[in-house]
This record gives sequence, structure tokens and C-alpha cells, in this order.
Amino acid sequence: MADSVKAPHENWSSRTAFIFAAIGSAVGLGNIWKFPFEAGEGGGGAFVLIYLAFVFGIGVPVMIAELALGRRGHMSPPNAVKKVAQQESRSPLWSVAGWIGVIGAFMVLSFYSVIAGFTLSYMVDSFSGSLSSLRPDNSEAYFNGVTQNFSLILAWHIIFMGITIAVVARGIRGGLEKAVTWLMPVLFAILLLLVAYSLYVGDAAETFRFLLEPDWTEVDLETVIQALGQAFFSLSLALGAIMAYGAYVPKDVSLSRSAFIIAGADTGVAILAGLAIFPIVFQYGLEPGAGPGLVFITLPIAFAQMPGGLFVGGAFFLLLGIAALTSAISLLEPLVAWLEESKGISRVQSAIGGGVSIFILGMGTVLSFNHWSDFTFWRGTIFDNIDFLTNNIMMPMGGLIIALFVGWRMRRISVRDELSTMSDFGFRLWLIMLRYVCPLALMLIFVGYAFKGVLFGDG
Ligand code: TRP
Repeated sequence: MADSVKAPHENWSSRTAFIFAAIGSAVGLGNIWKFPFEAGEGGGGAFVLIYLAFVFGIGVPVMIAELALGRRGHMSPPNAVKKVAQQESRSPLWSVAGWIGVIGAFMVLSFYSVIAGFTLSYMVDSFSGSLSSLRPDNSEAYFNGVTQNFSLILAWHIIFMGITIAVVARGIRGGLEKAVTWLMPVLFAILLLLVAYSLYVGDAAETFRFLLEPDWTEVDLETVIQALGQAFFSLSLALGAIMAYGAYVPKDVSLSRSAFIIAGADTGVAILAGLAIFPIVFQYGLEPGAGPGLVFITLPIAFAQMPGGLFVGGAFFLLLGIAALTSAISLLEPLVAWLEESKGISRVQSAIGGGVSIFILGMGTVLSFNHWSDFTFWRGTIFDNIDFLTNNIMMPMGGLIIALFVGWRMRRISVRDELSTMSDFGFRLWLIMLRYVCPLALMLIFVGYAFKGVLFGDG
């Protein structure tokens, strides 16, 4: 029966292919670049604990809802939500959840590609030996030299978007699936080798103390909001990526179990990334709370001094590049699926058209680091604004709308039909989290902003 409805897209060839792709989406710059420095600033173990609570208490329930919505609609996010809303006799306006996804993913990928470009540039410089001159007093200047080099980061932005487009153009099975089944094992292998090396040459004892002994004095409302935002970003939630991937999941795959596997792997990689980075940071007396520069400014100082460090550094930046690529394809997919469906253009043309548009918006981020660095408004440079809008506004908003729609507006039998493998207890618990806990937590973000004057003041 269901087969008589022409499926507009292919499905994943297996459950494993889907899980690999979703882990590939989740594991990215967020795990290896952002998580360690946020943990470093947020009191180590204290941040890790808050983060874990958000991942499993809020992130996983929203991920299950997003996957269920995607599979039920079996289309690109805006059309999937519209279709499900129709089936449930609800307003088509709910499709705004899908639109936040397509537009938000567009915006995230525009800067994600530029940061991924930094990692590729550092990879080449590490393997080629150029990083050997880095010392505590010149590393920041070196980083600024890279980001201020307009043509260099433009070139890497072109290369990274080009690869992303090429993968997505080849389709679900021929492109996305092939890429992740090759890249994810390589990623895990490099990561484990780096952790082993780092624990061996670095200060393992101090690292475990730092990650396990919570320092609550560093924690304030901002840390809590940041941990929630990071949980959403790291799990690729609320921007259509997980919904788009959910659309291609075969009916017999358990979405709840998948969500736990994806979240578990994502958290595991974030913690392993910490175990790769902090032993070196402590061994060389560097600052764990160094902020966004931790990976690009602090860590290379150690690579320059360690035995075999430039090779290890090259491997580290290659790891980051791979992680970024498998995330980038999930950020391009929602838009491409939508263009295919709604505009009737081929996948290849959609991937090129969509990818080039994202590339052009990304020029704003490229320029934010050099020629236009003084052009600031609201939150700062163009890059700062796109980052803030997506991470702090669109993601919590999208998550909130998804939780409200699936939790309160879909009939329970429809939802249960998508989540048929869950036990009654599990289903009931999930529904309580989705209906009450998730919306409250997400709304808290906006209340927090209002108090801190973040939106309009200088908070
Ligand atoms: N999760 C990725 C990371 O941690 C980034 C990412 C990929 C993403 N797809 C997404 C973030 C969709 C939000 C929404 O780097």
C-alpha cells in the first residue's frame, strides 16, 4: 500500500548506514574544537556533568521527536512537517519548524566551511613543518596571520564547499553513505591513536582530575545556557539535519535506540577529544580555559615541541577536517532535498546551486576575519551574528517548536506508530520529557537572555 505513494527520495541501505551517517553529522567541529574549550572555561568536570544531563535529558528526547517527524513525513524538513501537520489536521504553519531547519543549516554551513578551512590549512602547515616555529609568544600571531590571509582562507573555503557539494550531489547511497562508511572508521582510528599518544606523553593524572573533579565556582547561568546550546549543536538538532536523515530511515529501524546510540557516540567522541587535548595542554603548562583558540593557538605550541609532534598535529587537524566534512554534508542535505522536491531540479543541480549560495554567504565569514573585521553591528562581525542567530536563537526555537508539535499536536497513535519498538514505560517517560521538560528548558534560554539583556543590551 505505502509503496503506491512514490517515495521522492531513496532510503538508507541499512540501519548501520543511517547510524554512521547520523554519527557523522553529530561528530564535528562541535566535539573536537568547541567542547574541549567550553569544558575548559566551564570548570572541567562541572561542565561535563551539566552537558551530559542535557544530552540525555533534553537532546535525546528531541532527537527522537525529530527523527520520527522526518520519517513520518518522508520528505525534506519543511515539506515533511507540512505533510504530517496535514495528516494530523493541524495548521500548515507548523512547517516553520522545517524552515528554521533549512535556513539555519544554510547559515551554519556558511561559517562551518570557513572554520573547517582553517583546520585544513593547519593540517598542511603541520605536515609540511611550518608549524615547527610556533612558541607561546608567536602562536596567536600565527593564527591571526592565517585568518587575516584573505586569499588563503577563501581558497580553503572553496575546496571544502566543493568537496561537500560533490558528496551530496552523488545522492544518499552513492554519496553520503559511501563517504561516511569510509570516513568514520578513519576518524575513530585517528582519534584513538591520538588519545593513546597523548595520555602517554602528556599529563594524564591532571587531565582525569580536571575532567572528573567538578569545579562549580566556574558555573553560572551562562555556563548552563552554553551547555544546552552545545548539546543541541553537537547532536545536530533542530536545524533539519537529523530530520532530513530521519526521512530516509527504513520503517523497521528503532528510532529511540538509534538516538541513544548516536548521542552516546557523539558524547564519547567529545570526551575522547578532551582526552587527546588536555594531557598535552597540562604537560606543557598551557591554559585549559584558553577559549576558541585552544585548538588553533594553544595546542600547536605543544605540537611544535613534542617528539613527532608535527606529524601528530597533522593527524589531529586531518581528524578535525574529516569530522567537519561528515557534518557539512548533513547541513547541505536539507536544502538539497527541498530544492529537488519543490523546485523539481535534479540532485546535482540542487547540490551545486544550494552549495554555491551557501559559499557566497560564507564570504561574509571569510571577510569577518580580515577586510571587514571592523564592520560590526549587534553581536559583532557578520560571523559573530550568524553564529549567534543560529546557535542561540534558531536552534532553541526550532527545538521548542518540534517538541511542542510532536508532544502536543500529533495524535498519540501516530507518534506511537513511529516509535513502536519502545516499551510502554519508555514511551511514557519520553512523552513527559518532550511535553514538559524540554519546552521548559528551552524557554529558560530565552528568559535567561531577557534577564541578561543579551538580545538588545551588551550582555
Ligand atoms: N553537530 C555538528 C558538530 O558538532 C555540527 C552540525 C552538523 C550541526 N549538522 C548540524 C549543528 C545540524 C546543528 C544542526 O560540529
